[in-house]
Amino acid sequence: MQESYEIIDLKPQASDFRKEVLEGLLSEHKSISPKFFYDRTGSELFEEITKLDEYYPTRAEMEILTDKASEIGKAIGEGVSLTELGSGNGKKSVLLAKALHNPKEAILVDISMDALKDAMKRLMAEISNIPAKAVCADYTAIDVMSSIKMAGKKAIVFLGSTIGNMEPHDQRSFIAGCRKVLSDGETFTIGADLKKNPEVIDRAYNDSKGITAMFNLNLIARINREFGTNIPPDAFRHYAFYNSKEGRVEMHLISTKEQSYDIGGTTVRFRDGESIHTENSYKFSISELEAMLREAGFSETNVWKDSRDLYALITAVA
Ligand code: SAH
Ligand code: AVI
Repeated sequence: MQESYEIIDLKPQASDFRKEVLEGLLSEHKSISPKFFYDRTGSELFEEITKLDEYYPTRAEMEILTDKASEIGKAIGEGVSLTELGSGNGKKSVLLAKALHNPKEAILVDISMDALKDAMKRLMAEISNIPAKAVCADYTAIDVMSSIKMAGKKAIVFLGSTIGNMEPHDQRSFIAGCRKVLSDGETFTIGADLKKNPEVIDRAYNDSKGITAMFNLNLIARINREFGTNIPPDAFRHYAFYNSKEGRVEMHLISTKEQSYDIGGTTVRFRDGESIHTENSYKFSISELEAMLREAGFSETNVWKDSRDLYALITAVA
């Protein structure tokens, strides 16, 4: 087992949270970026979500990574440095690194230092022969992608359908940004949730144990922790639905009454029933994904789906 790893902390969270949350709550249509879900509690709740019967994306992607490991390994190629963006608990990086032939290095990038430390522990324990590096950063921030030093042939992976948490324009520029740091012949692998029966999608975000509600409401708890406010737990309720026109799940926190709070020295008012939009989770067709990849400068694509056609993994060559 490896004893230590390099850790690069670009300090993405503290100041950004205060500034961005306040901006979002003072705008006409209130919103908070989904990247702020992932403090320690949020990362733990997401881990719980991935185990729910109703939340199928993680199981479907793990099935693909396990069943198609050797094809995926071949498509990504030999001797690569593997960089996973938004690595969460690191389980998928472990599977991928095991699928690869003679990988040179594994780099995990995540905005949550707590998730990153847990993931690195897992990586150290399970893959003892590859040098590993942790980068705590917001991968959407300018220059973060180009500042990550990747040795040798690069393979970037972006799993979990986290691409779906970006707006369509940002999805395109993010994929183009990944293409920019790759040389011709290097690969980008993306996992994405597919469009399907809306009821199946709806259930995944309205689970019977209420874990997704706790994940969403943790943003209020986080505001209380970080701003020292005292918003009671019943001041907002979880609301999630599939918007088929936009092809996305929307998550909101709905104000249960007219109320106002002093947040960071500013009074923020909420109308009864007013929403704070906390997340979009876009769903895709394979052709939409391939078109986005082509547009960003990728050519050849390999596509794998799980046995129920719920989810797709695509390796694209720069
Ligand atoms: N890839 C993992 C985790 C998905 S959850 C899986 O498939 O299971 C999304 C992960 O992305 C979380 O670990 C979260 O902390 C991270 N994340 C979200 N927004 C981010 C951002 N802007 N920059 C870096 N990491 C981010
Ligand atoms: C990380 N991301 C892809 C998850 C999703 O499904 O959009 C986050 C999540 N939100 C609610 N449940 C899970």
